[in-house]
Amino acid sequence: MIEIQEILFDEQTIARKVQELAERISRDYAGKELLLVSILKGAFIFTGDLVRSLTIPVAVDFLCASSYGMSTESSRTINIKKDLDSDIRGKHVLLVDTIIDTGETLNCIMNIFAERKPASLQAVALLDKKSRRTVDVPVKYLGFEIPDKFVVGYGLDCSQQYRNLKYIAVIKISE
Ligand code: IMP
Ligand code: MG
Repeated sequence: MIEIQEILFDEQTIARKVQELAERISRDYAGKELLLVSILKGAFIFTGDLVRSLTIPVAVDFLCASSYGMSTESSRTINIKKDLDSDIRGKHVLLVDTIIDTGETLNCIMNIFAERKPASLQAVALLDKKSRRTVDVPVKYLGFEIPDKFVVGYGLDCSQQYRNLKYIAVIKISE
């Protein structure tokens, strides 16, 4: 059985943090051509809220990737299920993910994208499970640091469920 154990961040708390991140991003990318790359599926809600809080022109593209290989292996790799529609050469690219756990997925994506020669490449994530990091991936914009617990909501799933929750919660899985 799966049950909601604890609400970590409610709707208002998330909204305030998204606004704060959007203000920093709007300031930093003023006068530049910004391309947000949303990492599906988990980032679809965060991306929607973030772009609507930006005050600068922005283009949006989507990448759907799944990682495979043991999380303990340094050679973790990703399978790109849907690549970008646009060429990122010369663009200021900001990757959007909702949560950074080991950092392996984002690290793989950043390595692949770096080869495509963008003008700049940074990342934003709402949640940071810092204690779980196995790779030193630079994430310029981070929302909340959270403990090593499995969370759902605001785009994040457990077996494809709970993505629609307006809050972010820790779940308890029992028989
Ligand atoms: P990483 O490659 O270990 O950083 O994994 C990142 C991805 O794993 C995220 O984009 C999520 O899709 C998923 N993930 C990691 N932790 C959680 C969690 O607590 N709840 C839901 N999904 C998670
Ligand atoms: Mg998932």
